Amino acid sequence: MLTNKIKLANLPTRIEHLDRLSGELGKNIYIKRDDYTGIEFSGNKIRKLEYCLKEALDQGADTLITCGAVQSNHCRATVAAGVKLGLDSILYLRSPVREAPEGNYFLDKVLGAEVRHITPSDYSERRQEIMEAAALELEAQGRKAYLIPEGASNAIGTWGYYNAFMEILDQEKELSLDFDTIVTALGSGGTYAGLHFANEIGGHGKKVYGVPIVMDSEYFKKRVGEIWQEFSSYFEKSYKMEAEDMLMLDGFAGRGYGLNTPEEMDFIRDLARKEGLILDSVYTGKAFKGFVESIEKKEFSDSKNILFIHTGGLFGLFSKKFEFDL
Ligand SMILES: Cc1ncc(COP(=O)(O)O)c(C=O)c1O
Repeated sequence: MLTNKIKLANLPTRIEHLDRLSGELGKNIYIKRDDYTGIEFSGNKIRKLEYCLKEALDQGADTLITCGAVQSNHCRATVAAGVKLGLDSILYLRSPVREAPEGNYFLDKVLGAEVRHITPSDYSERRQEIMEAAALELEAQGRKAYLIPEGASNAIGTWGYYNAFMEILDQEKELSLDFDTIVTALGSGGTYAGLHFANEIGGHGKKVYGVPIVMDSEYFKKRVGEIWQEFSSYFEKSYKMEAEDMLMLDGFAGRGYGLNTPEEMDFIRDLARKEGLILDSVYTGKAFKGFVESIEKKEFSDSKNILFIHTGGLFGLFSKKFEFDL
């Protein structure tokens, strides 16, 4: 197990029972508050960055280069953590037009990131090449860059949620509880990958579900398989990760990445008013809605104690305020 990290997140994060929703759905529904990992470093990304940034410092980097959507939580967390560690950040943000700074993008600016906008087509086809060219430019100036892929969903970042799974096992002992099912959103795949690998490698027999908030399970099973290819180099023994063992709930990506339907916004509003819990519109809102609708369709009939990971993302919600019916 890799324990070589920089401590940035507030861990362990709390686990709470959702009383009213559990009563309505006839299941024990718990939520792990990974939205409480911090403020500037809040959400799931900081667990991955604790490992990536240790590697960056060990390699003598002075600048972090990463990429994401204009409202990327990962980019905001990277910049904030970079500032804390004395590292500059260059962000490649996917944006068809230059939007006014809002939400995470506003915080990127406040935190002093160098923001470079790239078109959606450059982002999907050439982002790695573009980031590598930027790293070479810095090198020519005598500086050293450390590249972090989208969402820090690479081998080293996967340790974040591998170890979050271990944290959950410790919390089960403290709470005298056994979570038979864990559910998380799937965005770039690393959160699900870490949880799934830890469950499979340790033979814990939990059902770990991912809910794609973009694309579908076919895409994510392939992506998680690729992350496994990289991550497996950390293990001496070989483990088999079969696509059919990856549990994913399709049909909840809605209108696509960062886009919402009125029903999704109503769901977020209604849950806020029921449980005092605020989900984001890009990831956790869609994933939690998919999870609740799947319970209603009896998808979780064998599950009794279910843990949903609140992976954060609240800052992005402020850019969507006009889409709510309040
Ligand atoms: C708030 C939030 N939740 C969930 C996810 C999905 O996590 P992952 O990218 O590891 O699949 C992300 C990032 O993509 C995120 O920012």
